[in-house]
Amino acid sequence: MLHRATATTDQPHGWQDYVVPQNWEAFTEDDHAVWDLLFARQVELLGSRVVSQFLDGIDLLRLSHPGVPDLGELNAILEPRTGWRTVAVSGLVPDDIFFAMLSERVFPVGNFIRKREQLDYLEEPDCFHDLFGHIPMLANHDFAEMIEHVGRLGTSAIAAGRGELAARIYWHSVEFGLAREGGELKILGAGLASSFGEAHFSLESDRVERLPFSVPRAARTAYRNDVFQPLYLVSESVDGTVREILATTPKGLLAIE
Ligand SMILES: [Fe+2]
Repeated sequence: MLHRATATTDQPHGWQDYVVPQNWEAFTEDDHAVWDLLFARQVELLGSRVVSQFLDGIDLLRLSHPGVPDLGELNAILEPRTGWRTVAVSGLVPDDIFFAMLSERVFPVGNFIRKREQLDYLEEPDCFHDLFGHIPMLANHDFAEMIEHVGRLGTSAIAAGRGELAARIYWHSVEFGLAREGGELKILGAGLASSFGEAHFSLESDRVERLPFSVPRAARTAYRNDVFQPLYLVSESVDGTVREILATTPKGLLAIE
């Protein structure tokens, strides 16, 4: 989620207004088969190319269980572990709502799954992206705390008219970040972990730039959400990026020009 950085909406509202019932029973046999196909294909594709915290999360949350996950069952494992829970939403939510959710350890999950004919093309994030890509890292205590903090940074940055600063930090870490682990370059971001085409591309292409992640660099680096990234920011370690983001205050973020 957060595949665009748009302005806030006009009407006063709470994030709860965007939550819909998952209605898990409405997923068809084919929906579940598409999930299974995507899951098996992506796990094989990623192998060990993703940070170990992600693989730990897949196991902890039993995401290999067949079929589209039931959010109630998932939350029964996730919430006691890190205090995060998932809610179903009908599609992309405005950035102010998204950050408000994150600041309360609530992660929105698009309540639909792509069709078999469009396995590799998505106009907006579906539940495979949101659940497979994002939720494993929410089972990690440090990363879970970091994402909540990004939510608070986002809420205050939007209030100051600078929402893009927080959106870019999120983008270059949680969504499309790379990270070093044991001397190797690995996938960190959900947008890469859940992508068939961009996962290997991000690690192997010699046509892209890869620069060290820092909060100021991330906050200054605009991004595109409609093409493969021309630039990836690389965390020296997941722990280091967690510490740097947690140490960022709203005031410190807004001071970045
Ligand atoms: Fe996402």
